[in-house]
Amino acid sequence: MQDKVSNFKCLLKSPACLRLGTMSSASLTCYRCLCAFTGVLPKRKMTKLTYSILAIIAVGLLLIGMYRLSEFSRGPLKIGFLTVCPQDIRRRYIKEACSRMNVTRPSKPPYLKHIVIDHWHKLAYCLIPKVGSRTIRTILGALLTRNASYVSGMDFPRIPGISILANMPPSLQQQVMEKYKKMIVVRHPYDRLLSVFDSKLLPTHREMVVELLAKNVRQINKYFSDVKGKETSFDPNEQTLSFEEFVGVISSQYNAGFRDRHWKTMFEHCDPCTIEYDFVLRLETLAKDYRVLSSYLHPPKWLTNSAPYLEQMKTSLLNPEEKMFNLLWRYENIDSVSLEGLKNVYEKDLGLFGYTWDVEKGANCRIPLGDGTYCC
Ligand SMILES: *[C@@H]1O[C@H](CO)[C@@H](O)[C@H](O)[C@H]1NC(C)=O
Ligand SMILES: *[C@@H]1O[C@H](CO)[C@@H](O)[C@H](O)[C@H]1NC(C)=O
Repeated sequence: MQDKVSNFKCLLKSPACLRLGTMSSASLTCYRCLCAFTGVLPKRKMTKLTYSILAIIAVGLLLIGMYRLSEFSRGPLKIGFLTVCPQDIRRRYIKEACSRMNVTRPSKPPYLKHIVIDHWHKLAYCLIPKVGSRTIRTILGALLTRNASYVSGMDFPRIPGISILANMPPSLQQQVMEKYKKMIVVRHPYDRLLSVFDSKLLPTHREMVVELLAKNVRQINKYFSDVKGKETSFDPNEQTLSFEEFVGVISSQYNAGFRDRHWKTMFEHCDPCTIEYDFVLRLETLAKDYRVLSSYLHPPKWLTNSAPYLEQMKTSLLNPEEKMFNLLWRYENIDSVSLEGLKNVYEKDLGLFGYTWDVEKGANCRIPLGDGTYCC
């Protein structure tokens, strides 16, 4: 008993020794010198007390560590010079932009035929062509067919467990949209146009050129007569458009019906001001954004190790700086009237998802974080 009391006194006399951080080594030294001074050495009890204090400190440090870790996983993430926004910031930005831009809602839901339902994972994915849709379809298809080498093609809508929202009874549509997680993948609209052009409208892709342009010959001819001042009768079986002409036709004839799902605005595809998407992914940062999807889907190892899946993911890890530079270079010859028209056509795609375009600085993606910095 006497030992205990002296011990206690011994520690209380040296509050400096109890300062956090110096505890582990210094306190032991203090303990030894003080207790040697009082002439008591009640080893067992004191050790217990020291252990308790050390344990409390260890738990404290662990909690601080866990907090820091969770903060990290929620906080910004970098790819090159791009900071990847957390999901809640992207969602909030869309919501605010919808009211800021005074977006009127379409009377008939345009998204019905674009939303793919994965019943197994309870996921409603709004599919936009040229915005990573093949990658997403491949992932979902591989999971549902349990085939690691599955690559999405025309068979995708027929996979058991997949349906298109438009093909479901209206009562089920509503249930699904309320209960399932909703996902959209977006991309800089100007980059998307370039991708459409490079993958489908080059003279070597004759079949695609016919498929995409044959139904729009009237608008193409109008563009040539109105804007270029020359009468042509465009023949998609023999000709194609240059990138400058393609952008020109879109900017002057989009509202006159020059539309195809490949360049129809993401806004019109998915109506993000009506549907509140839970997951907002970007093609530019897909490899990083994928962690959002994978924490929901929990893909098994056999999928994450699979080659086609990795192959498609890798492209989004290409240096974003380089990609943006390429974009500016490809738009260099587009005249200012066409650029202005393009900005009007894709105003909502730019504004709702935080994308910017500057004739000198090129494409970017900027969502203010409130402290003078931006994320994408
Ligand atoms: C939003 O649009 C409506 C209808 O088009 C209009 O009456 C209203 O003034 C607009 N509000 C703003 C803030 O622009
Ligand atoms: C897996 O998918 C690939 C590509 O879609 C296909 O060729 C192959 O036949 C599939 N394998 C099985 C076992 O279904």
